[in-house]
Amino acid sequence: MNPLVSAAFVIVAGLAVGFASIGSGVDQRTAASQVVEGIARQPEENEALSLYFQMQQFGLTPDQFTFGSVIKACSNVNQVELGKQLHGHVIKSEHGSHLIAQNALIAMYTKFSQINEALIVFSRIKLKDLITWSSMIAGYSQLGYELEALSCFREMLSQGIYKLNEFVFGSIFNACKNLARAEYGRQIHGLSIKFGLSFDAFAGCAVTDMYARCGWLCSARTAFYQIGNPDLASRNALIAGFAYGGDPGEAISLFSQMRTLSLTPDDVTVRSLLCAFVSPSALFLGKQVHCYVIKSGFDLEISVSNTLLSMYANCSDLPDAHKIFDEIKYKADLVSWNAIITAFLQQRDSGQVFSLFRMMLLSSNKPDHITLVNMLGASGKVASLEIGDQRCIRVPDCRLTQDTMEDCCLIGIGKEMMMKDGSTAFKE
Ligand SMILES: *[C@@H]1O[C@H](CO)[C@@H](O)[C@H](O)[C@H]1NC(C)=O
Repeated sequence: MNPLVSAAFVIVAGLAVGFASIGSGVDQRTAASQVVEGIARQPEENEALSLYFQMQQFGLTPDQFTFGSVIKACSNVNQVELGKQLHGHVIKSEHGSHLIAQNALIAMYTKFSQINEALIVFSRIKLKDLITWSSMIAGYSQLGYELEALSCFREMLSQGIYKLNEFVFGSIFNACKNLARAEYGRQIHGLSIKFGLSFDAFAGCAVTDMYARCGWLCSARTAFYQIGNPDLASRNALIAGFAYGGDPGEAISLFSQMRTLSLTPDDVTVRSLLCAFVSPSALFLGKQVHCYVIKSGFDLEISVSNTLLSMYANCSDLPDAHKIFDEIKYKADLVSWNAIITAFLQQRDSGQVFSLFRMMLLSSNKPDHITLVNMLGASGKVASLEIGDQRCIRVPDCRLTQDTMEDCCLIGIGKEMMMKDGSTAFKE
């Protein structure tokens, strides 16, 4: 315990003893739960939890507010066993049925990725409020149960809950995005317009992102311009939509618009934008962005440099890809190595591929399964050439499990066989 918090504890203890001697049950609870609540809001979740247990030793009964704070603290520190214990306390407590405690439990189980536990809590609640529904929908959506999120949303509407908030819409649009079903999302977008929530930055960002990822670029743009005060995340979503959607011109004009509005892009903006340039004809635009990247210092971020490298490789400009790799060699990570190896592999330059691979083995980045699949592919492609011991990949040098190793070998052998006798290898 740090000195500050232990001081706080002495005060709680003092309060507790004081109140205990007065003997007023309500005051005890209020005072103690206010302290626990206050501390849970600070980063010292663990101290809040230990205060909770000390509080019980003083015979103070936690109320719904105490439960709400302490369960939240417990989720933030990912203490699953403790969470179950707290759930037990909630069940036994006279204040446990309060929605504040119950809703906190749903959020906690979501944080622990235990959707079934969250559902058990949810379905036992007789009178659910908006937070109950939105916690359950968020849980489904975050943990990959998109269809369940949608049907929970439908059920909520059918129960006459008509005071929706931006978080419900955010979860639902994310679910539609992950399902790649913009047609579902469009109906719900209509509903969010009725609720006046299409102006909201949070819901508006989610709907823009959904349309953009599903490739509904016109709808994405319309949704974006409905947002009252769009934040960087919404702009990034729109730029990424046009970049991946194969419209580099529009992506770059949105980017220039940002700069005329004196908005500062971040590394996500830059990386999304760079993905717009995938063919030699787009390279001149890509180079303009590269200049901007250097001027604004984004090239100091390894993730941005890796994307630049991959952009040059995708535009078949190997000399520039290699130049970037040389610049970042001293700080290259696994992604950089795999990107440069893939780049030369695509050009079928096996000499470079193998020499880069040998350099990689000497570097601090050990090959992973992506590297290995690439290398085995390279062995396949150059099977007819003299490659000698270059095909021996020393397993201890790679960060691989036995299973990945076997998968990689199968892929490699398959590729090699295809090289030798046409495409018959995989028929058996
Ligand atoms: C380059 O192409 C690969 C394969 O299509 C893709 O995964 C990657 O995102 C592209 N990189 C950039 C920067 O566009």
